[in-house]
Amino acid sequence: MDIVTVGGVKNPYDCIIGSGVSSLLPEKIASLTSAKKVLLITDDNVDLLYGEKVKNLIEEGGFLCHKFVFPHGEEHKNLTTVSEILEFAAENELSRSDLIVALGGGIVGDVAGFCASCFLRGIDYIQLPTTFLSAIDSSVGGKTGVNLNQGKNLAGAFYQPKAVICDTDFLSTLSPDIFMDGTAEAIKYGVIFDRELFDKFKTDFKADISSIIKRCISLKAQIVKKDEFDKGERQLLNFGHTIGHAIEKCSDFKISHGKAVAIGMVMAARGGAKMGLVKTDFSEEIASVNALNRLPISADFSAEVLLDAMLKDKKRSSDGITLVIPEEIGNCKLFKISTGSLYEFIKSAI
Ligand SMILES: NC(=O)c1ccc[n+]([C@@H]2O[C@H](COP(=O)([O-])OP(=O)(O)OC[C@H]3O[C@@H](n4cnc5c(N)ncnc54)[C@H](O)[C@@H]3O)[C@@H](O)[C@H]2O)c1
Repeated sequence: MDIVTVGGVKNPYDCIIGSGVSSLLPEKIASLTSAKKVLLITDDNVDLLYGEKVKNLIEEGGFLCHKFVFPHGEEHKNLTTVSEILEFAAENELSRSDLIVALGGGIVGDVAGFCASCFLRGIDYIQLPTTFLSAIDSSVGGKTGVNLNQGKNLAGAFYQPKAVICDTDFLSTLSPDIFMDGTAEAIKYGVIFDRELFDKFKTDFKADISSIIKRCISLKAQIVKKDEFDKGERQLLNFGHTIGHAIEKCSDFKISHGKAVAIGMVMAARGGAKMGLVKTDFSEEIASVNALNRLPISADFSAEVLLDAMLKDKKRSSDGITLVIPEEIGNCKLFKISTGSLYEFIKSAI
């Protein structure tokens, strides 16, 4: 078992990583919170696999557990789901000292964390990530939220969990396609911070999965410590995301988050080099690592359509968008692209 502590936030917390560590949940609830009731939130797929097992675990720990299950998929990461969960929490009389447990991928974690941030003005929550993507990225760092009709993650809050319990056994039931989404985010960490990590994705890395999760979480923890509220360095983690979010939106969410990020990374690297912002074009190297991992490298949307979606991104300011571009593999920089140059950037990136 490995532990990475996320510090520099109001209440530092541990991310516990390893096989079978979900059995620690009851003792963590008892030691970290004063909860009597737990609202376990999950999606229908995860519920079938692990819902009852985790509910029983919580009840065996002496807590009353109510389970809320919503349909899987990005289209349910919205305010309707949030509203249903908040009403369910109120009907079941959760108090301010009670707890939410998020059991699932990034969607469950983002929705459940957001509900925790606003139910009774904030109750504790614990993340139990079940996808590779949520294990290495979304369960850590306290970004919670849902999509609005206008775009991704437009309603949300920074709200840190009390703990992240990352049981690697959960990953055994992931389909290759969903596992792949996490691979895209892990490649992202390599491009931004760590050439050695990036090079692992040129090989069969699965035997090394726990150490990769630990490395990605450690990198994220360092960034969150310096910039919890995404005002500076944390924006580096958006590598591939600003274009990726536009791709997700344009595909009506048929292209998953991870795959959209995979394409977004290639496009950001290519556009940055073609626009002369960086000396070397790493898009081919990133594309070849994507391809080795069966991730896509391009999408069929015009520059006009992507521009329109990008201009609705929450990371846009009045005078442009900040994009993350690799100067080398393992070292990315933030570049402000003016609204006027954005079309040219996207056109050169396609
Ligand atoms: N908060 C953040 O910092 C952050 C960071 C990155 C991504 N995200 C968000 O995360 C979301 C994507 O997360 P995701 O890729 O985990 O997708 P997801 O939550 O939709 O999960 C993918 C699919 O896998 C299923 N699933 C989950 N665990 C499983 C398991 N163990 N076995 C079998 N099936 C399982 C789910 O039911 C779902 O159908 C996006 O909405 C994205 O915006 C958030």
